[in-house]
Amino acid sequence: MRDSHGRNINYLRISVTDRCNLRCIYCMPEQGIKKLEHVDILRFEEIFKIVKVSEKLGINKVRYTGGEPLVMKDIDKLIYETSKLQGIEDISITTNGILLGDMASDLKKAGLKRVNISLDTLDDVKFKSITRIGNLDKVMKSIDRCLTLGLKPVKINTVLMRGFNDTEFEDFLNLTREMPIEIRFIELMPIGEGIKIYDKSKISFMEILKNHPELTQIENEKSSTAQMYKIKGAKGKIGFISPVSCKFCADCNKIRLTSTGTIKPCLHSKEEINLKQYLNNEEMLTNTLKQAIFDKPLEHHLEEEKISRSEKMMYQIGG
Ligand code: 5AD
Ligand code: SF4
Repeated sequence: MRDSHGRNINYLRISVTDRCNLRCIYCMPEQGIKKLEHVDILRFEEIFKIVKVSEKLGINKVRYTGGEPLVMKDIDKLIYETSKLQGIEDISITTNGILLGDMASDLKKAGLKRVNISLDTLDDVKFKSITRIGNLDKVMKSIDRCLTLGLKPVKINTVLMRGFNDTEFEDFLNLTREMPIEIRFIELMPIGEGIKIYDKSKISFMEILKNHPELTQIENEKSSTAQMYKIKGAKGKIGFISPVSCKFCADCNKIRLTSTGTIKPCLHSKEEINLKQYLNNEEMLTNTLKQAIFDKPLEHHLEEEKISRSEKMMYQIGG
């Protein structure tokens, strides 16, 4: 359905948990995370109820995210149930790739169409320092596994940060020569832990493009969020997602469901609408979701305010 600004909202991103098996520096604090009680988190049957109502309102794309969605038992069953809904054409996940290699085949059988894997460095030692835990080899094996299984397109999310991984830009570029993957560089956002390193680590993609004339823009392949580029002869592609410096709010087609059962119509707004209270009343659930979509804010204010208005952290929303 359309929101009050005329945008067609057809994409629901669902954070199934705020837990994660990594602790990326720009996303999760190392310690002191308050664990949500099981009763506070939506059960999969409850998530599915919301997915069904969303489908009726015109949602045709669903993404499961986290935290890390693959730490949740039965995620394949949730994907399977979702895939049986006629109106849902696309089911994807955003994952850190640690558990993906072993699960990819079952997830595909369940109806998963494609994956986005977060990967910020190709260096073992840096991988440990950015994720604080984690094993790069497992992620690389997961990427191979997804390509073999045909979970396409395999997209890689890379948050480029000055002083952490900016010197690896060319290594990532080179990876696209041999691998049919899409590496999408995401601009660091001043939200949650990202606020602490934002000023010193943010990088403008204009700066990178200026230094890399070998990148040619791919015509007609500008999705709503990423600007796509390629180097000659490469099997893969490069994308730039610039939520801060080049915001794409005018084309935004998403709403988000948090694991506690609230709808976040905009990633960077304070606003959350509680759906959990209406799980046993389909009419109220439908009407509340409809209103939340209709009232989706026009835009975020990151560039002027230099800080997200969101009260939730990235690991509670899932990007
Ligand atoms: N800025 C930009 N991207 C972020 N992500 C998490 N925190 C931030 C941040 N502060 C990304 C992760 C993951 C996606 C879900 O969101 O790298 O790929
Ligand atoms: Fe976990 Fe993803 Fe956050 Fe890293 S970015 S800590 S993998 S939720």
